[in-house]
Amino acid sequence: MSLPKPKKINAEKYVAGLSLFKQKTARIKLSANESALGPSPKAIKQYNEVGKNLKRYPDSDGIFLRNVLAKKFKLDPKRIILGSGSDQIFELICKTFVNKNDEVIVPEFSFIIYRIYSKIYGAKIKYAKEINYRISIKNILSKVTNKTKVVFLANPNNPTGTIISKKELLQLRKKLRSNILLVIDDAYFEYVKDKNYLPGLKLFSNSKNVIVTRTFSKIYGLAGLRIGWGYGPKNLIYALNQIKPPFNINRAALFAAAESIKDVKWLNKEIKHVNKWSKIFYKNFKDLKIETNSSYGNFLLVNFNKIRVSSKKIFLKLAQSGILVRKMDVYKIKNSLRITIGNNLENKKFIKIIRKII
Ligand SMILES: Cc1ncc(COP(=O)(O)O)c(C=O)c1O
Repeated sequence: MSLPKPKKINAEKYVAGLSLFKQKTARIKLSANESALGPSPKAIKQYNEVGKNLKRYPDSDGIFLRNVLAKKFKLDPKRIILGSGSDQIFELICKTFVNKNDEVIVPEFSFIIYRIYSKIYGAKIKYAKEINYRISIKNILSKVTNKTKVVFLANPNNPTGTIISKKELLQLRKKLRSNILLVIDDAYFEYVKDKNYLPGLKLFSNSKNVIVTRTFSKIYGLAGLRIGWGYGPKNLIYALNQIKPPFNINRAALFAAAESIKDVKWLNKEIKHVNKWSKIFYKNFKDLKIETNSSYGNFLLVNFNKIRVSSKKIFLKLAQSGILVRKMDVYKIKNSLRITIGNNLENKKFIKIIRKII
């Protein structure tokens, strides 16, 4: 008798930045778009408090945090789902709504997790071409068929760092068939300063067919605690909450997240830091004739074609100097790297080294 055979799953495995390196080698990690300044000291204090009482299960409904979020963003707490990272929300969405042979549309260069979970639950992925690394609404709409179930997109987009305007997003929702679920990932919205931009939550908090996701992994600096959330129509969020693992968010994450949301001062410090360094990075890349676009998130996508250098070589040389950045092979963006903005020391070192390499 043989053991049960695993299901055949036709999806790539997610490769995290650090798994390529031993932590010892990469002292400076600019590969995962984590926060530059780390969590609010108030969140760390709360984390340490929770550490004194580890024997208790967390609240499986996360009521306290849902109420804090609802108050902060003027939302209905019943329409919030908490996930072990927004990652888990994407999985729950696929698990709940995606069936074999459904089609899921993602922008050509978009967060890889959307396609991984969609494939795991049997969907066929349709890639919508981008124009100059910007999501194209027209190209998304051109991929719609009667099998389309879900459209995923992030705004700002990862790994390109570009945004689409509020007008474009509203147009997309209007032109998409009403029974297609639109998932808008607001992971980096806090960093954006552009008058034509509005985060998904602001645009669609009353929509019947949009789920918006947010995360504590980026600006709040809590990537290691794994916590994110989603907001959507009552019936859809109810369905997701029905199947979520009961204790998917640990107590430390619940309480540290609630505390970090309140620390607006810390948040503004991180935004100011990232916006300042984003401009400095951009200028340095331009000086070196490395192609890039000014980014709306906490990272920049750079291409080495113009200066005829191989991104592989740059990646290795940076790594030899202890700096880990993100390769773009899995995204199929040729000869490019994605660089996360770090703290002052890390950024200065990165700029010094890249100048020396080039
Ligand atoms: C577009 C996008 N969404 C979400 C996330 C964060 O996922 P999580 O909340 O699971 O940490 C990332 C992190 O890289 C991202 O780039």
